[in-house]
Amino acid sequence: MKRLVVVSNRVAVPDGTTRAGGLAVALQEALQQNGGIWFGWSGKISAQTPSAPQILEEGPVTFATLDLSRRDHAEYYNGYANRTLWPIFHYRLGLADFNRENYTGYLRVNTLFAHQLFPLLREDDDIWVHDYHLIPMGEELRRLGVRQRMGFFLHTPFPAMEILLALPGHDRIARSLCAYDVVGFQTENDLRAFHDYITLEARGEVLSNGMVQAFGRTLKAEVFPIGIDVDIIVDAAENSDEIEDVQALKRRLRDCRLIIGVDRLDYSKGLAERFKAFGNLLEHYPQWRGKVSLMQIAPPSRSDVPEYLRIRRNLEALAGHINGRFAQVGWTPLHYLNSSFERNVLAGFYRNSQACLITPLRDGMNLVAKEYVASQNPDDPGVLVLSRFAGAARELHAALLVNPYDEAGVAEAINAALSMHHDERRERWSDMMRAVRNSSLDRWRESFLSALRQAPYSVEEG
Ligand code: F6P
Repeated sequence: MKRLVVVSNRVAVPDGTTRAGGLAVALQEALQQNGGIWFGWSGKISAQTPSAPQILEEGPVTFATLDLSRRDHAEYYNGYANRTLWPIFHYRLGLADFNRENYTGYLRVNTLFAHQLFPLLREDDDIWVHDYHLIPMGEELRRLGVRQRMGFFLHTPFPAMEILLALPGHDRIARSLCAYDVVGFQTENDLRAFHDYITLEARGEVLSNGMVQAFGRTLKAEVFPIGIDVDIIVDAAENSDEIEDVQALKRRLRDCRLIIGVDRLDYSKGLAERFKAFGNLLEHYPQWRGKVSLMQIAPPSRSDVPEYLRIRRNLEALAGHINGRFAQVGWTPLHYLNSSFERNVLAGFYRNSQACLITPLRDGMNLVAKEYVASQNPDDPGVLVLSRFAGAARELHAALLVNPYDEAGVAEAINAALSMHHDERRERWSDMMRAVRNSSLDRWRESFLSALRQAPYSVEEG
């Protein structure tokens, strides 16, 4: 059987140090089925970039990981990936920092990864590269002579052409994408933005069968909305009553209703806007004072990047302000937790929340939205308040869709969620649960891999 080679910045090495999230589990399953390699950064920083990857064999899967030097980590990961591409791909031009050193570091690490992976490859491997950190890697592999099928999936949004044009070197990014045989996006919106760039800027073509011709190559660009492992989440939620943290939450809540938010601490998640909308609710719908709390779980991430430090300070101030203004003896309106929880604990939290606030300013998909839906008690489900700018909004039409920039509008939606009649809640939930089941994680993986396996071997044109 043909092997699968997965490449991603982070690798879920089964060494006990990495917690396996849903995506990791899905990729591991594909690797277990076909045998193969998972290649990427070890998550460690060392004095110098090592000359060969560390190899760990686990049954049919080889985990091959590289440490990054301090400089590579600063320029590639903190720098270009997270201070340039991340804000631009999330439509935040004002937060983007562009400098040549970081750009060069990004290309250097992509070249290094390609050179380190190359000797491990077999002639008939299928290669699947993930996310914005590694866009140029495929082109580097092609340069080394790799003719195997190569696919790329972008987990973040792909920005509208006018935004992307502000990135110096945007043509290199677009050209690199075209080195793959299949490029996958989360939503039609992202695919449309890519098509716009190809036709209007790169003077390429989108053929009637959906194939893209540009930069001397022909490739397939398609939408593959990522999903969750529905049954695992349903099961975890149903069996969460025994979990200590879930019991503690229930004890504390008593008659108080709970709104939950769970996000990585990132400016793209719209957390400041969310806190303000919750404050707006307490201000303008005083009937909820003392009766509802928002529990926002936000584990810090990318803490070396200055923009992330700023958002953290800002949120602490906002949370303090809201609690100072509205708290009463025995009731805290906003619980803001900078910690992370296991997936089964979160499933229990979701099941005990009457509403979930997912209000990113821009998000590739947002799997918390899908996990919240899957965790609900079908007889008494909670309500999802979802930003129209999350990829998940394209599938979860029955959520209360909001514009996260509209503070009063979000407050109004929270009020509607908390007041919603049982029948409407059930109707909306059934609709969303159908959508969640329709685009499961297995389906995402299988449809991408089947598109990749149908792609012809790459041939450079003209
Ligand atoms: O959303 C893009 C993404 O790469 C996710 O796949 C991942 O969960 C998240 O960002 C994690 O970011 P980091 O690796 O920087 O902690």
